[in-house]
Amino acid sequence: MKIKAAVVNGVGEDYQIEDLELAEMRPDEIIVKIVASGMCMSDETIRKGGTSVSMPVVLGHEGSGIVEKVGEAVKTFKPGDQVVMSYAYCGHCPSCRTGRPAVCDDWMKLNFLGVRDDGSHTLHKENGTPVGNFYGQSSFATHALVHESNLIKVGKDADLRLIGPLGCGFLTGSGTVINGLKPEAGSSIAVFGTGAVGLAAMMAAKIEGCSNIIAVDIHDSRLEIARELGATHTINSKEEDPVEKIREITNGVGVNYSVDTTGVTPVMKTALTVLSKSGVFAPVAVSKNGIEINPTAELIMSNKSIIGRLMGDGIPQLSIPQLAKFYKEGRFPFDKLVKFYAFDEINQAAHESVTGAVIKPILIMDENYKVEAK
Ligand SMILES: NC(=O)c1ccc[n+]([C@@H]2O[C@H](COP(=O)([O-])OP(=O)(O)OC[C@H]3O[C@@H](n4cnc5c(N)ncnc54)[C@H](O)[C@@H]3O)[C@@H](O)[C@H]2O)c1
Ligand SMILES: [Zn+2]
Ligand SMILES: [Zn+2]
Repeated sequence: MKIKAAVVNGVGEDYQIEDLELAEMRPDEIIVKIVASGMCMSDETIRKGGTSVSMPVVLGHEGSGIVEKVGEAVKTFKPGDQVVMSYAYCGHCPSCRTGRPAVCDDWMKLNFLGVRDDGSHTLHKENGTPVGNFYGQSSFATHALVHESNLIKVGKDADLRLIGPLGCGFLTGSGTVINGLKPEAGSSIAVFGTGAVGLAAMMAAKIEGCSNIIAVDIHDSRLEIARELGATHTINSKEEDPVEKIREITNGVGVNYSVDTTGVTPVMKTALTVLSKSGVFAPVAVSKNGIEINPTAELIMSNKSIIGRLMGDGIPQLSIPQLAKFYKEGRFPFDKLVKFYAFDEINQAAHESVTGAVIKPILIMDENYKVEAK
């Protein structure tokens, strides 16, 4: 089947919209007609060569669309179903069986290797050159060949132009708080970096009933949005010392929880420093940067912890409908963070997210799509 896809042909190269051949669907596979796809910072990191993903590749892992065809072994989807796409997982390893598919034993293979289990490619150029798949979905395209584990059914009233980013960035930020930190009502939290992931963490903290929600960033425009979405305090760390300011806000106690989405070494250190006794810090940025700690002085003596969580540590098929419901109730207003672009404006969209002008770009692949029901 012929499709259009935005291909990255080499490290740091612009996206090129090309005609590709999508492989024949196998019995356990599904073809989704993509309506839209969010762009995540991880796409940008990979385009710039920050990982071992091989090129050419079709990136994109926040797709949304309509199921077009299902293989005969597919049990839970049918043509016409409206779906959000998230990461792929095996469903039968110990992690999957205990409700932690984000740490599936086959996670790297299914999401980052770019090929099927038997090594075959699902995407080819017209001259036969194989093109890698990403996250089992490659959503910067008009169609995707996916597995059941990639798909999350959403209601006919969901706006498929908007809802794709629930598949990664917003899932990660909110899940880190809801499934990872599990803050008690009335507790305090500091979120460092207020991009898509940090703002989702903040909105989740508000849903969970945190009473002091402190947003830290270096851009006033981002902090303004943070305030709009529920931050009780904001700190521009270029102008004020967050350690001192957080101590002041919490009457010298420190915050119960902190999240870092910047991946900047001194910021991650600060996120640990500002914790109260027994506080918990969750770093979520994907970064090569590290931090040095003295476990005795910085963890043991104050009973602090650092926890790692991937993709929000939830089950996408449960978390994404829950986030869609929170959105409908006005409690997770992620639409305020979005800017829409035509598919062929992909390079401009990527640029505007890197400069910080836009928090969550969404590419529209199907300009004719209309929401079915209100
Ligand atoms: N762990 C996961 O499962 C997962 C999933 C998705 C994304 N991510 C990662 O999460 C990170 C955040 O993603 P995003 O889309 O929100 O990115 P983003 O770039 O939109 O947000 C980062 C924010 O940090 C701020 N910042 C940068 N330097 C700072 C500093 N020194 N002090 C304070 N603030 C600073 C920026 O102004 C920006 O607002 C990325 O590294 C991304 O790859 C992780
Ligand atoms: Zn698994
Ligand atoms: Zn992502």
